[in-house]
Amino acid sequence: KAKVAVLISGAGTNMAALLFASKLPSCPYEIILVASNNPDAEGLKIAAAEGIPTFTKSHIGLDRVAHDAIMHDAIVKSGATYVALAGYMRILSKEFVAKWDGRMLNIHPSLLPKYKGLHTHQRAIEAKDPVAGSSVHLVTAELDDGPVLGQIEVTILPGDTADTLADRVKMAEYQLYPKTLAEFVVRDTNPEFLTAQVRSLALTQPEAD
Ligand code: GAR
Repeated sequence: KAKVAVLISGAGTNMAALLFASKLPSCPYEIILVASNNPDAEGLKIAAAEGIPTFTKSHIGLDRVAHDAIMHDAIVKSGATYVALAGYMRILSKEFVAKWDGRMLNIHPSLLPKYKGLHTHQRAIEAKDPVAGSSVHLVTAELDDGPVLGQIEVTILPGDTADTLADRVKMAEYQLYPKTLAEFVVRDTNPEFLTAQVRSLALTQPEAD
């Protein structure tokens, strides 16, 4: 199974969704570390209770590159080969991003490319969008940029506030993130997979004469 480190800063409910999905026998990944910049992150307790090793290093008083280097070392030591950001509320240094190029995913609570950055739900409501949602994407040097691997839509209800919408988007995220991560590691660890898909598509095309 692909070994994944999950980085969190807060409640860690997306981490919990990734973790519980990984307990299903067919899941192609396992969570081998949950790491946080916030020693009080609630999610650390969930992980510890489930027997997952945790690591915490506060960013306070450290510069970004130094803090990221400490997180990187902990991830490497754990044996993880993928990183899943799940409510990790830190902007990452370009050095850290480069080290995990193509192997680090993030979940962002908007239908990217809409609403990068913060306050995504408030912005969607103010824009009178009919739908909000969430995206899982590969992390690149630009904030909330990088190829989108999966998205899920959530209808905005009359009377929704940023908080009520955020709660519903989270429920959708619990479906999206485990599925998208699972599909990604299967593709990434099996170079034949894409080729096989392309080949089977080609086979279903009508024969040219
Ligand atoms: C999630 O909704 C996630 O999409 C969002 O924070 C929440 C974390 O909740 N991420 C961001 O805003 C990243 N910029 P959780 O800690 O309960 O998983």
